[in-house]
Amino acid sequence: MINDIKEIIINEEEVLLKIKELSKKISEDYKGKNLLVVGILKGSVIFASDLIKNIDIPCEIDFMAVSSYGDSSETSGVVRILKDLDHSIEGKDIIIAEDIIDSGVTLDYLTKYLKTRNVNSVKIAALLSKPARRKVEIDVEYLGFEVPDEFIVGYGLDYAEKYRNLPYVAILKEEVYK
Ligand code: IMP
Ligand code: MG
Repeated sequence: MINDIKEIIINEEEVLLKIKELSKKISEDYKGKNLLVVGILKGSVIFASDLIKNIDIPCEIDFMAVSSYGDSSETSGVVRILKDLDHSIEGKDIIIAEDIIDSGVTLDYLTKYLKTRNVNSVKIAALLSKPARRKVEIDVEYLGFEVPDEFIVGYGLDYAEKYRNLPYVAILKEEVYK
């Protein structure tokens, strides 16, 4: 696995430190609210679990699964819901936890979709953002790191379902996906 990595850009310690900062801010901002963190499967699982573990106010969690990429490294621009939420979200203050914002198409769709359901608020927490690739403007309330326009893996992010278990954020060698 390590042979496919071009460069580690954020190590485990740095990632955790940043996520703890985001959790602290969320704990302050959502005091007395009806917080529900919605993790987007599967890329966000490691980020979402670190995030909620460090939130110290009452908090519910749920997951959605969407598809946009398939096994290719380019977005199709089409978002499909593969798994919806398990419970009613009426009146909740939702934070969508996502691994990375690339074109922004996925989060634009999800934010609009959740806002149609009588929720109190919808905000976004993303571990990573690739601003150079944005096609739709997205407001990210809680952002970990900006990353360059390269294919990123690790800390939940995959290429063809692999590399999610790497405990750091890394750039994948081009020859692996080209
Ligand atoms: P968007 O809709 O283009 O913003 O794409 C968001 C989704 O594409 C993320 O949830 C990731 O699953 C996937 N994605 C985008 N860029 C990368 C990357 O560099 N590595 C791995 N997955 C990525
Ligand atoms: Mg993904």
